[in-house]
Amino acid sequence: MNKVTPYNTGAAKKEEVEQMFDNIAFRYDFLNSLLSLGIHKGWRKKCVKKLERIKPNAILDVATGTGDFAIACAKLNPTKITGVDISEGMMKFGREKLKKLNLDKLITLEKGDAETLAFEDNSYDAIVVGFGVRNFENLEKGLINLQRILKPGGKIIILEFSYPRRFPVKQFYNFYFSYVTPFIGKLFSKDSRAYSYLPESVKAFPDNENFTAILTKCGFKNANFESVSLGIAAIYEAGK
Ligand SMILES: C[S@@+](CC[C@H](N)C(=O)[O-])C[C@H]1O[C@@H](n2cnc3c(N)ncnc32)[C@H](O)[C@@H]1O
Repeated sequence: MNKVTPYNTGAAKKEEVEQMFDNIAFRYDFLNSLLSLGIHKGWRKKCVKKLERIKPNAILDVATGTGDFAIACAKLNPTKITGVDISEGMMKFGREKLKKLNLDKLITLEKGDAETLAFEDNSYDAIVVGFGVRNFENLEKGLINLQRILKPGGKIIILEFSYPRRFPVKQFYNFYFSYVTPFIGKLFSKDSRAYSYLPESVKAFPDNENFTAILTKCGFKNANFESVSLGIAAIYEAGK
């Protein structure tokens, strides 16, 4: 896999990713809604639906950012939701949202790196990751750790961008992500790299069948995926 990093400074990808999300945190939710025209909310809803059948009690939202996936999971009536992220800047905005929504008792956000999270083996019924795995420094190390934390019979749901390959979606996507996203992203976030890193990292990411193969290699069972919105994102589902 190509190593695509936000700033190409030669520092560890993790450090650059943390810095980038700290930088753009104040505009993250706004730009997410603007640039995806609100579609991202529907994707998370679809993910949450896939967890209804297992009625999870304890849910872990990895790479929680400003907490949107954790908030969407509250619909499942679990007893606890833990969100973890390497960017304190993102979680600061997440915690403010949780307070406003009165969800701060149910959902707690704490600093944590997917690759080194020290939760006990078999401790969460469900794990969700939204637009996070693409940013991991060591993808397999992170996934193996999440597989360890997931309870047998539990489910992991991963939502991630994928690279559309068909005409005319691919052409539209290339135009939108090469010109529109970086321009608007830079204008509002003041970070000139964050929204160019986005399409570069999507292109370099092993998506669809390649990613389900990685999930299987990392110990997950029955890994499968569903493409959404003409293949610009995919929802991966796997068990243990
Ligand atoms: C694009 S945001 C997604 C936030 C949220 N999940 C959502 O759906 O909007 C990606 C997040 O992944 C976090 N992240 C990247 N690598 C991580 C890692 N190894 N462990 C935990 N969080 C990580 C970043 O700090 C960032 O907040």
